[in-house]
Amino acid sequence: MLTAPARAPVNRVHSRASGLAPALEGFPIGMSTIVEIEGVPLHLAHPDEIPTRWIGNERVREQLIAAWMVVAPTDVPLNPRLIGRPGVGKTTLAYSVARSLGQEVYILQCTMDTRPEDLLVTPVIAGAGAIAYHASPLVTAMIRGGICILDEGNRMSEKSWASLAPLLDMRRTVESIVAGIKIVAHKDFRVCVTMNDDASTYEIPEYIHSRLQPQIEVTFPARSEEIEILRFNVPFAEEKVVEYVADFLQKAHAVNLGFSSRDGVNILRYATKIGKRREAPPETFLAESIEAVLGREGVAFLDSGLPADRMQGAFGTLREFMEGPFEPGPDDEDDDLFDDKPF
Ligand SMILES: Nc1ncnc2c1ncn2[C@@H]1O[C@H](COP(=O)(O)OP(=O)(O)OP(=O)(O)O)[C@@H](O)[C@H]1O
Ligand SMILES: [Mg+2]
Repeated sequence: MLTAPARAPVNRVHSRASGLAPALEGFPIGMSTIVEIEGVPLHLAHPDEIPTRWIGNERVREQLIAAWMVVAPTDVPLNPRLIGRPGVGKTTLAYSVARSLGQEVYILQCTMDTRPEDLLVTPVIAGAGAIAYHASPLVTAMIRGGICILDEGNRMSEKSWASLAPLLDMRRTVESIVAGIKIVAHKDFRVCVTMNDDASTYEIPEYIHSRLQPQIEVTFPARSEEIEILRFNVPFAEEKVVEYVADFLQKAHAVNLGFSSRDGVNILRYATKIGKRREAPPETFLAESIEAVLGREGVAFLDSGLPADRMQGAFGTLREFMEGPFEPGPDDEDDDLFDDKPF
């Protein structure tokens, strides 16, 4: 049974029946900021700070910015959904574009257990018989005029999505049943949803799907982008190993295997670590690292055939190539280690 909300110590309290709080300055990280909405004190969440940068196709960045623009007084921002294979950089794209707009960014990780109150306001016991109300990252972004990334949104059940329907249309509001309040989104509030198509996800109901527009597809990066992604994420890795991993990924993309930049970062990082540990060149451990990160599928790919011309007939499989002398071919200076022809 819920009792009346506790009157906790307050940093800043804004009495706004509309639910609209003015822009708040000097957000105190490590302390709870409280705003008052329809007489109910709400503890706000903290924004996310991630030292990351999106590298890749300018077009998708432009699409995301355009979707969030407001071009006339009667216009409203769109709520884009970013789709693509796991690990291609959807969350990274959303986060870094959002940060580049100079707004606070809040990431809400969606799971199949996410309940409507996790998305909106959660009651928390705050001492003897008292309840404190904690705003989710989404509601905090709504109040503060930040940007919320609903990460891996398609893991959520329909019941949870239903609570967001009024937020995703012209109303731009949510209603918290537990706190008994209606919250109106700040004019600068923006939201996007990332989704991937792995098996552990729900179908999004049509009425929600139609509110999550436009669809922006993030695809595998080109080779030069792949190299930059690997360099950015593992700046201490040796250049030739970076290029080798980039070529491995490009080869995998060409045959539509789902090995992603995230896998590449992990392969590179792990090979570099084993190399350090065993005091041997990291390239010696690439095959081992690929097996460890990608498992059976990676092993199968390693054991698949390679174009004979680049291997000069000396090696039959990617594994043999990787475990052989680690030298590019005679005319390979600045080129792929592998040819771009399909297998
Ligand atoms: N284009 C990119 N630019 C910079 N880093 C990237 C890029 N793509 C992937 N990465 C790196 O790979 C990792 C995975 O990226 P991210 O989490 O954004 O992928 P995702 O598509 O959201 O994956 P999932 O579907 O599993 O949520 C991160 O560590 C990120 O730094
Ligand atoms: Mg993600």
